[in-house]
Amino acid sequence: MDFFNYRQHELFAESIPVDKIAQNYGTPCYVYSRATLEMHWQAFDQGFAGHPHLICYAVKANSNIAVLNVLARLGSGFDIVSLGEMQRVLTAGGSPEKIVFSGVGKREDEILAALKIGIRCFNIEVSGELDRINRLAGELGVIAPVSFRVNPDVDAKTHPYISTGLKENKFGIDIKQAIHEYRRAAQMPNIQIVGIDCHIGSQLTETVPFLDALDRVLALVDELQEEGIELHHLDLGGGLGICYRDEHPPQPSEYISALLQRLAGRSFEILLEPGRAIVGNAGILLTRVEYLKPTANKNFAIVDAAMNDLVRPALYGAWQAIIPANTESDQAELDWDIVGPVCETGDFLGKARSLKLRQGDLLVVRSAGAYGFTMSSNYNSRPRAAEVMVDGDKTHLIRARETLEQLWVGEQLLPE
Ligand code: LLP
Repeated sequence: MDFFNYRQHELFAESIPVDKIAQNYGTPCYVYSRATLEMHWQAFDQGFAGHPHLICYAVKANSNIAVLNVLARLGSGFDIVSLGEMQRVLTAGGSPEKIVFSGVGKREDEILAALKIGIRCFNIEVSGELDRINRLAGELGVIAPVSFRVNPDVDAKTHPYISTGLKENKFGIDIKQAIHEYRRAAQMPNIQIVGIDCHIGSQLTETVPFLDALDRVLALVDELQEEGIELHHLDLGGGLGICYRDEHPPQPSEYISALLQRLAGRSFEILLEPGRAIVGNAGILLTRVEYLKPTANKNFAIVDAAMNDLVRPALYGAWQAIIPANTESDQAELDWDIVGPVCETGDFLGKARSLKLRQGDLLVVRSAGAYGFTMSSNYNSRPRAAEVMVDGDKTHLIRARETLEQLWVGEQLLPE
């Protein structure tokens, strides 16, 4: 469910016609719905009912500080993977004690910064990271809270680029090696073991792989307990999919109740790191048709958004719905490839979309709230799009469109 709906012929974001947003802020433009964001976050939070839990929104999905702030106000935690994401969370009013730090390549300066602000937990992904954290915590005179991200070797049955829980992936510590790492950690003076973590992939549309991963994690938890290593929390990562087209992923409540059932009364605090399921369908991308180019083989609609704005179609062959901002049209319905101005054949937003188009029409790419703006670039020296948040009958510019001058900030001519 979301708050992007047609009223008669016009698409609205909450109470605002998207056409008005395009007129005020220009295109391409990302538009987010606050009510949708909040509803999706609440669905996770309420799914746990009375069970101790913390929803740590995965910042990488959409890191605009206004988005983070809306979630922080609800009491959200945050899953970060870089110092940049950490600073964004703090700037947005997130609490350090609700931050978990994931990622395979944490640098020393990143670890130090996170230790200084007192984050909730480091999700360790490499053996050497444990030694590094222990040493740095010792230097600062603090105790570092850690969990290990284990790789449970389960098939998430998703796109190979976003599947992370197989043993051939770079992520996490082999679940069979993990006990050895926990034993090492238990001996270290500046380390406090607080949990265990796994994340098996993204855009999962079934519960079974999550439950398989949980079973493997629980088996390890039991082994650890026998050795006297007690954990406080289980972090089961993110990855719950959304409906882009005809997928039927479980609702957060169904997914969470399946997890709780499997936990069968164990009282661990449960952490989740959802990204896409919270922001994906809370955002759209507005783009205008610059030219129509019917050819002998294909009809191209050349729009002002491109792969630099939204790379998912080009990178993963991802399908995202493309709909008109206004459904009233006297044009014939034709199949159009919706392409951008970037000089790459892979620069498309959608192929063979049946639409009634005219030059100047406003189009809407749906499900663009997650991994949209955050994966955008300046390729072809294109300034990044504006971002707008709708809140009922109000719109707020939450990121101004980049200016041309911003494109070369920090660049320098050679001396004479
Ligand atoms: N936790 C960890 C450790 C992760 O690596 C990720 C995503 C998440 C949580 C959040 O996963 P989500 O709930 O959003 O599925 N760019 C790709 C998706 C990459 C996901 C990377 N990791 C896409 O556009 O489909």
